[in-house]
Order: sequence, then structure tokens, then C-alpha cells
Amino acid sequence: MTDAPARGRAGGKVILLGEHVVVYGRPAVASGLPIGLEAEVVRGAGPALASDVAADARGIDLVAAAARLVGLEPADWVVRIRSEIPPGQGLGSSAALCVAVLRALASAAGRVLGTPEEIAHGRTLEGIFHGTPSGIDPAAATMASAFRFVRGEPPAIEAVVLGAPVPLVIGLGATARSTGAAVGGLRERWQADPARHEVLFDAVAVVVDEGVQALRRGDLVALGRAFDRNQTLLAELGVSSPDVERRVASARLAGALGAKLTGGGAGGAVIALVDASCRAAVVRALAGSGSRPLELVLRERP
Ligand code: PMV
Repeated sequence: MTDAPARGRAGGKVILLGEHVVVYGRPAVASGLPIGLEAEVVRGAGPALASDVAADARGIDLVAAAARLVGLEPADWVVRIRSEIPPGQGLGSSAALCVAVLRALASAAGRVLGTPEEIAHGRTLEGIFHGTPSGIDPAAATMASAFRFVRGEPPAIEAVVLGAPVPLVIGLGATARSTGAAVGGLRERWQADPARHEVLFDAVAVVVDEGVQALRRGDLVALGRAFDRNQTLLAELGVSSPDVERRVASARLAGALGAKLTGGGAGGAVIALVDASCRAAVVRALAGSGSRPLELVLRERP
């Protein structure tokens, strides 16, 4: 153990297809993002967390639980956070927070965790923020590129090699919203009518695997169709919102190949798949419909 500050970093993520159904054992496909979050750990009167990502008791619970997982006494540690990931948008800020805090505390304990251990601990810690996490977010926080994910112990994670770069415009929502509330609401509706929901979950699973094939072929037109079909099914699952529908429609009208919510939904970020001919128009359309646009290209690293 050392007295110098220990640091840990983890990335955000974008779920391309399959959010929510992934909680119910269906596949999803996601990619890590280059933007991330850094945690710095110092000795002090803890457990404490200075962050706008989790500025409540859950932040304290996170530091205490992560410290215990790496064999440290929680009362001795204070964690400070610097984040580039907009919170409450579906871009994985809470999971990145969990993994970055875990990595920083592991480093303070003089330990290096393996990827499977990070993913398993990350999922345990994410449970502090919402009750039934699939584990896809902490997996993305540890992976930089695209992958297909099915929850499990351990989860099935398969790299997806992109056949062509995937140009996206992410439209951030005007206000943060709660993934926990969206996941909890869907659970209540599923409990009330499991048969209807299982059919919808299976329909999304088919779309996810069509999208994975399209990603591998570099077929952006087919991928765009998968985005649109997934969005229709997400709306039927009740996790879209009028604001999301409006922003998705504006991106499609401007020529996007496909558009959908990403992550928890019920507000938050939308993603639009673009090509060179419509990129600028989609950026303008999303800005005009109340989104802050963020341009991003997913590509294979050399
Ligand atoms: O809103 P985010 O970034 O936490 O993404 C949540 C993704 C869900 O599929 C809705 C939940 C989960 O645990 O997989």
C-alpha cells in the first residue's frame, strides 16, 4: 500500500442494439467509447466520494464496497472523480464510475485485477445504482471496441470485428434521467404480462443478431434498418419517450440511415447512424430538436 494518490480510468459505452432485453438474457451489441472517467484515491476520512456523477449516499456505498472487494478498510479512503461522460444519458457513466473507482482502489492496495474479475466486481458495484444490471456496462468500461454480450456467470462476450467504420451522431438529451427507474418500470410491466414481453424480447434478439452480421459485413444500410426496428420495439416495451421519438424522427428526416435511443432510455441520448451525405444535416437536425450532438466514428483499432 502506498500514500501517493492511486488512479484508475474506465471508458463510457454506447449500446448499439439490445439494451433492456439484455437484462432478460437476450444478446446486445455495444462498444466502448474513447471518452471516460478518472478516479483518484487518497488516504483520508472515508469512505467518501467527491463527484457529480453520484453525489449522494450511493457514492459512499460504492467506495465502501469497492474498498472491501480489494481488501482495504473503507474508512481510510477518499475518492475524487473527473468525468468526460455526460451523466444520466445512457452512455454508461455509472458503470465507468464503478470500474474506475475499483481500479483506483485496487492500485492503492497494490493489486492488478484481471478482466473477468473487473467485469464481475463492476457488475456487483453497479447493483448499487440499479437493482438488476445485466453487466454490459462494466464489460464495456473494460473493453475499447465493439462486442456482443449475453449476461451470465461469467457473461458471454464476443468481439465484433467491424467490416467498415460506423459513423454515429449521438444526440444528448436536455436532462439526465434514471436508468434504474426505466429498468424497474419495464420489470413491473414484464411481471404483469410476461408472455407479451417475452415475445418482444425475442423479436429484439433477432434484430440484434441481424445488426451484428451487418456490423461484420460493414453493411450500414442493414445496420440502420436494425436501429429503426429496435427503436420500434423499445417503444413497444415502454422505454422510449415523446422527446426521444421527436429527436429520432428529426434525425431520420435529415437522412440518417437509422436512429434509436441508447442505454436506459426514457430520455437521455439517442444515436443516429449516418454517412458522409447526411452527417452535417443530422447534426443540425439533432441540435435543432434540443439535443447536443456529439460526432463519433467506431472503427477497428490498427
Ligand atoms: O443507461 P445506462 O448507460 O446505464 O445503460 C443501461 C443498459 C440497460 O440495458 C438498460 C440496463 C443493463 O443493465 O443492461
